[in-house]
Amino acid sequence: MTQAAGEFVGALSFQALTGHPVHSDILSVEEENAMGHINLARWADQIIIAPATANMIGKMANGIADDLLSTLYLAAECPVSVAPAMNQAMWAKPVVQQNISNLKQQGVRFIGPAAGDQACGEVGLGRMSEPEDICNRGLAGRDGILNGVKFLISAGPTREALDPVRYITNRSSGKMGYALAEAAQSLGAEVTLVSGPVTMSPPFGVDMIPVESAQQMYDQIMPRADQSDVYIGTAAVADYRPKDLAMHKIKKQGDQMQIALQKNPDIVASVAALQEGRPFVVGFAAETDDLEQYAQNKMQQKNLDMIAANWVGQADSGFDSDRNALQVYWNNGSQMLPTASKRQLAEDLLHLIIVRINEKNTT
Ligand code: C5P
Repeated sequence: MTQAAGEFVGALSFQALTGHPVHSDILSVEEENAMGHINLARWADQIIIAPATANMIGKMANGIADDLLSTLYLAAECPVSVAPAMNQAMWAKPVVQQNISNLKQQGVRFIGPAAGDQACGEVGLGRMSEPEDICNRGLAGRDGILNGVKFLISAGPTREALDPVRYITNRSSGKMGYALAEAAQSLGAEVTLVSGPVTMSPPFGVDMIPVESAQQMYDQIMPRADQSDVYIGTAAVADYRPKDLAMHKIKKQGDQMQIALQKNPDIVASVAALQEGRPFVVGFAAETDDLEQYAQNKMQQKNLDMIAANWVGQADSGFDSDRNALQVYWNNGSQMLPTASKRQLAEDLLHLIIVRINEKNTT
């Protein structure tokens, strides 16, 4: 914290809320060690300065190191991101813009500012970006191996309406698809998530398109598929929908009733069949038996590049669980990804996908 920050909020409040020490004075960092500020700069994997005032940006751009934060910046060898916050007229001042442009050229990343109401009562560009935005974009810079790669991901269950109040659905929670979307985004990818009804909020920075039925999912995915580099079908798409949609609530009748079902379009197979602009296509297979056989058959029948298979119907894995294990197959190989959080599995699966795409591109 700079001295000015300390005048807004006391260091003790930060310390109590984060459970981490707050450093503010260049001479008191690791008291017995005169090189404490250098050690602190080396300790950081990344520095995010938020909020960054015009004054701090000016100091950084001109090599002035007269307090702990500006000294840390000079001593830093790790990536540095800055989230500016200042009055809109200060932001627009040419000298401030010149400082920012110099820092950008030197590799400093800028997050925001956002536009809107300002603390001073004026309106314009200069508000600090939302903290969640800063964290996500700051962390995205950690590993940009998917920078610019376009991912299209389907997630969640579909709902197939019988009448205005009833539908057929399944137990999919959408967690695996959301974890993949979040992981891809944090590796720098541009992610579009087409999602059936789930209870989660979309991961930050991901373009989410909500749908209900398999047909709606198909209609949203197909026009985007040939614009994408990778398609991952994690959605548990209903294979069939009621053949007729009753306009009024179906009334109770005899002891038995029958519902005629009509096949839904197979979305992942349609994407894999694209003649032009076909992305790298990954399917999912949730099975209760003969996992390998069904997964391999599905990969061939649907012409997929890769399939991630998991057991469902067991405790602590598959549908609705936070954890899972995946057996991943591609045309000439396979790998087991043992039980882990879905977020961890998502990262591991993305790395397998990247390796396969690179292999494909070099053969
Ligand atoms: O054939 P099955 O439904 O088990 O295949 C699962 C895979 O196919 C998943 O990747 C799922 O998203 C996809 N799928 C699809 N459209 C369907 C049915 C399944 O994209 N109508």
